[in-house]
Amino acid sequence: MKAILLGTAAGGGFPQWNCACEPCAAARAGRLRPRSQDCLAISGDGEDWWLVNASPDIRSQLVSTAAFDPGPGPRDTPIRGVVLTDAELDHVLGLLTLRGAAGLEVHATTTVLNALRSDLDVRTVLDRYADWTWRDVEPHRPFELAGGLVVTAVPISGKRPKYAAETAVDGDWVVAYRVEDPVTGGVLVYAPCLATWPTALDRLLADADVLLFDGTFHAAREMGARTGDEHGQAAMGHLPITRSLPELRRHPGVRRICTHLNNTNPVLDPDSPEHAELVAAGVEIPPDGTVVEI
Ligand code: MLT
Ligand code: MN
Ligand code: ZN
Repeated sequence: MKAILLGTAAGGGFPQWNCACEPCAAARAGRLRPRSQDCLAISGDGEDWWLVNASPDIRSQLVSTAAFDPGPGPRDTPIRGVVLTDAELDHVLGLLTLRGAAGLEVHATTTVLNALRSDLDVRTVLDRYADWTWRDVEPHRPFELAGGLVVTAVPISGKRPKYAAETAVDGDWVVAYRVEDPVTGGVLVYAPCLATWPTALDRLLADADVLLFDGTFHAAREMGARTGDEHGQAAMGHLPITRSLPELRRHPGVRRICTHLNNTNPVLDPDSPEHAELVAAGVEIPPDGTVVEI
């Protein structure tokens, strides 16, 4: 399997257009490398590609990657569809950009598919542009993607998008995906939104080769006191690295990679002590465009 880290920043990207924080200023000054919003592409055969989440930056992410060049027909694309981990704006707005492609499949939990009809109705909009198929993902039930990958959703949290804060629906708002290539036996786990470290994740990592995990914040209080709590629990629904690092250390045999990095996160700076601590623990913070083969 091949996985391409198309985007590794949290919502807003890096730098964020209206953010004057130190890392954003350093990115504007050319001292730190910019990052686009969190999005992953996966393929079992190198021909059929699937996006995991569709970021608002999807157009530039796709046109800058040769593997996604269209052809041989005038509108043929190797992109077969999208698998959504949640319904957050930074993970779904890119769907609107993809409206020119016929026949895509979008896989998401029933909770997420409902939100994309009832709370942010991109489905009605998109159905007028393209004949897409919307497929329910049932947690723990593996499904196959064209190209040979087998994908399983594992519920992670009930963190719902702000736009859906009022809905009464409880359910699988956020899942992680276990992606297996049955040919190589390789397993990748993608978990860009972790509110806690669920025991299910430890079970998933027992036979995984690679983990892409939620690196949004380094510390719970990073975006101001109101975003974290006294116990260093999830800041704005994201488990800070100070809390996930001890858990990550328990899985030294897994290649562990940070993604969904918020622009305030000091690990963005390779010269920071926070970055050095991660590297010393064997955790990677690679740039956009990194290709992982499993
Ligand atoms: C998140 O990851 O918490 C959301 O994407 C926040 C946002 O709306 O940008
Ligand atoms: Mn996000
Ligand atoms: Zn910033």
